[in-house]
Amino acid sequence: MSPLRPLLLALALALAAVPAPCAQGACPASADLKNSDGTRTCAKLYDKSDPYYENCCGDAELSLEPGADLLYLPSNWANTASSLVVAPRCELTVWSLQGKAGKTHKFSAGTYPRLEEYRRGILGNWSNAISALYCRCS
Ligand SMILES: *[C@@H]1O[C@H](CO)[C@@H](O)[C@H](O)[C@H]1NC(C)=O
Repeated sequence: MSPLRPLLLALALALAAVPAPCAQGACPASADLKNSDGTRTCAKLYDKSDPYYENCCGDAELSLEPGADLLYLPSNWANTASSLVVAPRCELTVWSLQGKAGKTHKFSAGTYPRLEEYRRGILGNWSNAISALYCRCS
């Protein structure tokens, strides 16, 4: 074994131990998205995010199964989601109005702790603005 090997390994471990700079808050990584019973999830919506990333993905969550196709969200979820996570090989399309009308946006696999950072039209953003959705996985 090359003398460099243990050094590189130690370096990799040290890097892994450094906490990410609040990049995803309490949000799970895309790859970790599973229901507690182990079944596959397409995406999860969370109703909480605030200026502090640590608080993203807090409070209530809405789990979407692959193929979830909602012309409108359950009443307590309309215009409520402010963080979301999309599972690997899945894609979430959202609309700003019920019936899949208004503005639309596609979120590919990944963690989106602050939907505020995603532009909806010229002035708006996607925080508290999702009213319909379609989630599909390949
Ligand atoms: C996102 O939109 C909301 C409501 O329209 C607004 O209050 C908020 O300031 C916007 N946030 C950003 C970062 O643009």
